[in-house]
Amino acid sequence: MTGLTKVVAMMAAAAVVGGAGLLAQVAAAMAQGYPTRPPTMVVPFAAGGPTDTIARIMAERMRQSLGQTVIIENVTGAAGSIGVGRVARAAPDGYTIGIGHWSTHVINGAIYPLNYDLLKDLDPVALLPANPQLIVTKKDVPATNLKELVAWVRANQDKISGGTAGAGSASHVGGVYFQNFTNTRFTFVPYRGSAPAMLDLVSGTIDIMCDQSTNSLPQVRANAVKAFAVTAPKRLASAPEIPTVDEAGLPGFYISVWHGLWVPHGTPKEIVAKLTAAAQDALADPAVQNRLAELGQEIPPREMQTPEGLGAFQKAEIEKWWPIVKAAGIKAE
Ligand code: MLT
Repeated sequence: MTGLTKVVAMMAAAAVVGGAGLLAQVAAAMAQGYPTRPPTMVVPFAAGGPTDTIARIMAERMRQSLGQTVIIENVTGAAGSIGVGRVARAAPDGYTIGIGHWSTHVINGAIYPLNYDLLKDLDPVALLPANPQLIVTKKDVPATNLKELVAWVRANQDKISGGTAGAGSASHVGGVYFQNFTNTRFTFVPYRGSAPAMLDLVSGTIDIMCDQSTNSLPQVRANAVKAFAVTAPKRLASAPEIPTVDEAGLPGFYISVWHGLWVPHGTPKEIVAKLTAAAQDALADPAVQNRLAELGQEIPPREMQTPEGLGAFQKAEIEKWWPIVKAAGIKAE
């Protein structure tokens, strides 16, 4: 009998014999030695992209607190909804953790017929850092500022293509926002994450992206793509040369892609508490803070790095964004 089947058998026996009290004791026993083997963190986008980068920074530091390596598994497709589904259906034993963000855990619920419920089938662990997007293009676009870029897009819209991580992904919502704000149209090309999309932007196969700073800043610094604005009211401390959308001519075009950790619904509270503490330890570590700041990530206050903080924030974001996404006509193709 494997560890998991033993636990399931114990829980089934507890349910038959002793009801809730015994179930709680089994859950506490499960949590006591947790983790006895490496947990897996499911990243719902391609390796090397922004979600994957945050996952690896977190996993590396969480290992110290948990005493076990946290394995990263990239489960891609349908703007992250396949990977999130994998977490929702996994055993609630603490060995499957999901990382996701604003689009996977908010936007996707408005546009995909998901076979899981974002709130009922997943339990929140901790709110993680947020980063804005950069409006970026391939290097040889002739525009030198955002106003010129909008004029160039308008003059060439039949030929222009924009990269996304799939319908409903953060990069897709950013792209649709850009089109709506500027009254322009271009063709979207979906990828399994913004890492492969960025490769095609660097090679000039596609023309434009609204992409998280975590993914695009290294390419901007390498002079491989051009950045026109940051989708935030404040410039990034780590890239102060990039103007805000307000300064560059698209006032109010704000997008903040916040991240979070979730586990399958029903994971024992003691295990969730250990994961929350490990995430908080990671975010309090100055080395982690420096790496995140370099990528344009802003760390939420410690009281938000909790199940209650993430749960309340996610619900508020659903209430805010679902009507906006539906009104913008963003659909799963
Ligand atoms: C990724 O990791 O590829 C991104 O988070 C995708 C996106 O939503 O734009």
